[in-house]
Amino acid sequence: MRLNNKVAIITGAGSGIGRATAVMFGKEGASVVVADIDQKKGMETVDLIKGENRKAVFVKVDVSEAHNVEKMVRTTVNAYGKLDILVNNVGIYLQASVVDTSEEDWDQILDVNLKGVFLCCKYSIPEMIKGGKGGVIVNVGSEAGIVGIKKQVAYNVSKSGIIALTKSIAIDFAADNVRANCVCPGTTETTLVTEALSRAPDPKRARRELEAVRPANRLGKPEEIAAGILYLASDESPYATGAILSIDGGYTAQ
Ligand SMILES: NC(=O)c1ccc[n+]([C@@H]2O[C@H](COP(=O)([O-])OP(=O)(O)OC[C@H]3O[C@@H](n4cnc5c(N)ncnc54)[C@H](O)[C@@H]3O)[C@@H](O)[C@H]2O)c1
Repeated sequence: MRLNNKVAIITGAGSGIGRATAVMFGKEGASVVVADIDQKKGMETVDLIKGENRKAVFVKVDVSEAHNVEKMVRTTVNAYGKLDILVNNVGIYLQASVVDTSEEDWDQILDVNLKGVFLCCKYSIPEMIKGGKGGVIVNVGSEAGIVGIKKQVAYNVSKSGIIALTKSIAIDFAADNVRANCVCPGTTETTLVTEALSRAPDPKRARRELEAVRPANRLGKPEEIAAGILYLASDESPYATGAILSIDGGYTAQ
């Protein structure tokens, strides 16, 4: 098993990519902290992991609130005695151009998607580097942080920021044995996408259009993204830090 004796926090693990990652980490031997704002969905993920006779606890957190994040890290260390891996996976989406984005919406997207990653790293890194042990951070960015995608400006900016944040942490904490990398998924079959599609005038057509713009001609599966996160979180990637891994069916290669 690739994560034996590792303790991992996965934010947004109540759904989609986060849930797939949490279940995969559990199967690989990690003690998993399922951190989510939604207790019901988070507990469902915990039950899935425990159903495989693996270790998991739920922590309710709003990643945009510093005191919540501090408590999440404290609860993890109290439960499992240490913290090895942090997967910053929470992300919320907004479809709007600059002109159509309200100041409140801008602040909310940036607070959750970017400040949330900053806060989780800020409070996790000191625990990781205690005693010289080190740790691993995997941030979940997006193809939208690499290329411009129409009418989702706040989301695009938040995801570009995650790439810069990842690189900054990688160079600032390499000497402390902390690796930080970023996985950039392409459009993946989760509620974030199905809810956005359901708001389109013709959801089936909107879906076909999303598939057709990528060389793979299909959407990604949460497990396909989780597999990249697992690689970067595991000891199979000791020399990878500051890396940006696209898993997007070739979208950003075009
Ligand atoms: N699905 C895609 O097509 C896609 C593509 C590129 C990048 N991503 C990124 O992947 C990540 C996961 O996306 P997903 O599609 O699995 O999302 P999802 O909507 O299925 O799940 C997100 C989870 O985050 C939780 N959450 C939301 N706000 C929170 C907060 N403030 N604090 C704590 N938890 C919170 C939700 O309750 C939910 O369980 C996001 O960062 C997203 O931007 C997704």
